[in-house]
Amino acid sequence: MKENPVGVVGVGGLLLGDGVSWHTARTGFACDSVVDYELVLASGEIVHANATARSDLFRALKGGGSNFGIVTSFHLETFPATDLVVGRRSIGMEHIDAVIDAVAAFTDLDQAYHGNALLSAIQYRPDTEASMISVTEINTLNRANNTAFDAVNRNPTLAPATTESLTLAQSANSSALGVLYAGPVTIANDPRVMRYCAEQHESLVEDLKAALGTKAFSTILDFQPLASGANMLGLERPPHNRILFVAGAILTTPNSADRFPQVYQKVAAMVQRIEAFATSVGSHDEFVYPAYADAARDPLGSYGAVNVQHIRDVAKRYDPDGFFPA
Ligand SMILES: Cc1cc2nc3c(=O)[nH]c(=O)nc-3n(C[C@H](O)[C@H](O)[C@H](O)COP(=O)(O)OP(=O)(O)OC[C@H]3O[C@@H](n4cnc5c(N)ncnc54)[C@H](O)[C@@H]3O)c2cc1C
Ligand SMILES: *[C@@H]1O[C@H](CO)[C@@H](O)[C@H](O)[C@H]1NC(C)=O
Ligand SMILES: *[C@@H]1O[C@H](CO)[C@@H](O)[C@H](O)[C@H]1NC(C)=O
Ligand SMILES: *[C@@H]1O[C@H](CO)[C@@H](O)[C@H](O)[C@H]1NC(C)=O
Repeated sequence: MKENPVGVVGVGGLLLGDGVSWHTARTGFACDSVVDYELVLASGEIVHANATARSDLFRALKGGGSNFGIVTSFHLETFPATDLVVGRRSIGMEHIDAVIDAVAAFTDLDQAYHGNALLSAIQYRPDTEASMISVTEINTLNRANNTAFDAVNRNPTLAPATTESLTLAQSANSSALGVLYAGPVTIANDPRVMRYCAEQHESLVEDLKAALGTKAFSTILDFQPLASGANMLGLERPPHNRILFVAGAILTTPNSADRFPQVYQKVAAMVQRIEAFATSVGSHDEFVYPAYADAARDPLGSYGAVNVQHIRDVAKRYDPDGFFPA
């Protein structure tokens, strides 16, 4: 559970928790770009881990979290920075079926070459006292003229759509977030499950309106297409396309911290219902994205038995007394 507002994201947690970005389809998780870690082991010894020195530790650090030492330097492989085309549009909930089908179709196309990313979210807004769909369409190669978003763009918008070209620094400049979230859940790319998520969101909103009043909260429920990579995450099991689903509520009135547990319970219960539904139709996925996981989740345990054993073996080798709680 995160208190609101939570602000700027640190490099350490992002790189140790994998790191997804608009560039993920082309360049993988942020941790996939790390070529060398300098870390302080529990013994106090300062070591490097990379592809040739301590390659076992190097592999374990790619998604294995902060269980082996304190990383004092990350050496990253870089790629040329291009400006991003960022398109935003808001769409009425009556078009949710068409948007979900468009998200599923987008997820099934390989976007790596074209540099596209799509983030769609359902949000309840206290100002309009209604939910809407908010879509962010990104091209990381600064191309404004691609056709990848046509199926989403065929839906009428609530306000004129905007498109701008931003530097990476500009686009990353507004990431403060005040949110209480539960999850995340990974599902196979299955429109039935996304529709169920949308229905469950509406019942969460009704529930929160009754508990808090219509102006005291907003919500966010994201669908994030997910790529795989050469790391500890075990995303090759099975190699299907995935949607990372994250749900949260934001309390918008001051001094509402005493409401956090009650609201968190409601969001967590919704996430459980979604997981149960996804399981019942065979579209639940074991993977728990670590950088989004709350305390109730076991992201490392979700990587598959072989990877979990590797993490345990490496922890035993480099931290024999169990100083770090692996
Ligand atoms: C506003 C916001 C936007 C976000 N956007 C994204 C996003 O676009 N993509 C994404 O993937 N995630 C995103 N996240 C999630 C984010 O990646 C995680 O919250 C991440 O853990 C933040 O890292 P931190 O170093 O700031 O956090 P911290 O809480 O400081 O660290 C997280 C964990 O890592 C450990 N740790 C940190 N640094 C080190 C180190 N050097 N050595 C060893 N252990 C260390 C800490 O002990 C802690 O257990 C977002 C979060 C927020 C709040
Ligand atoms: C890997 O670590 C070794 C040992 O510290 C070091 O000599 C070498 O330069 C490192 N390689 C990279 C790519 O950082
Ligand atoms: C998009 O524009 C680029 C030049 O900026 C051009 O090379 C490309 O063919 C165009 N693509 C489409 C789909 O129109
Ligand atoms: C980020 O936002 C702040 C405050 O709005 C502004 O002063 C700063 O110039 C912005 N930085 C970039 C790189 O856009």
